[in-house]
Amino acid sequence: MTKAQVTLKVNGVLRDVWVSPSDLLLDVLHDGLGLGEVRYGCGEGVCGTCTILLDGEPVSACLTLAVQAEGHDVTTLSALLGEDDSLHPLQQAFLRLGGSQCGFCTPGVILTAHSLIRRERAPSREQIRYELVGNLCRCTGYTKILDSIEAYIAGLGAEHADPAGTAGPGTGDHRLGEPGTDGPGTDGPGTDGPGTDGPGTDGPGTDGPGTDAAGPGADADGEAP
Ligand code: FES
Ligand code: FES
Repeated sequence: MTKAQVTLKVNGVLRDVWVSPSDLLLDVLHDGLGLGEVRYGCGEGVCGTCTILLDGEPVSACLTLAVQAEGHDVTTLSALLGEDDSLHPLQQAFLRLGGSQCGFCTPGVILTAHSLIRRERAPSREQIRYELVGNLCRCTGYTKILDSIEAYIAGLGAEHADPAGTAGPGTGDHRLGEPGTDGPGTDGPGTDGPGTDGPGTDGPGTDGPGTDAAGPGADADGEAP
């Protein structure tokens, strides 16, 4: 199939890529641009492991054509890292509280949560659960994921109430309002897990998964998002 060059804005950087009309954004990001945090799970828009942000909204890269992303801001987990590849405070919360175990689901979970917090600032636990309905996790039982996100949100609140910074370390999120502007990186909880990745037109949380949480080992704590 004939390929054409398109320019994608990925994590704030313009990238020229050659793609066929049918090439998936997931494959272009993972295989073409080497962004290992964008992973293939189901390839059907169900599991959420391929979640990226398109103009700030979570979408499944396994259901999105690469050409559809031209002219839009594409954000992957790498964009949350600091200049020295330091973890974003939301990643730190996952690391501290066990929100990431094997890490396979973590990039999609964190991007979805990050997008929600940008919109809602202080979402309730139920709002977080609803938002994450399209992000399946086979390890954590979800409780630790929710705890991690809530701890991060609490840290934001403490920082706002205590601008002098006496509320404690590691809570600030100077990058919250600008994901996608930081340079690409690779690490962070869950960025290097097994697998690769693919597309999806439905944003996570719209596909109804979360019901799969009843699968083997999916819900050790009895809590699905
Ligand atoms: S790989 Fe499962 S939703 Fe995209
Ligand atoms: S941490 Fe293993 S699938 Fe979520």
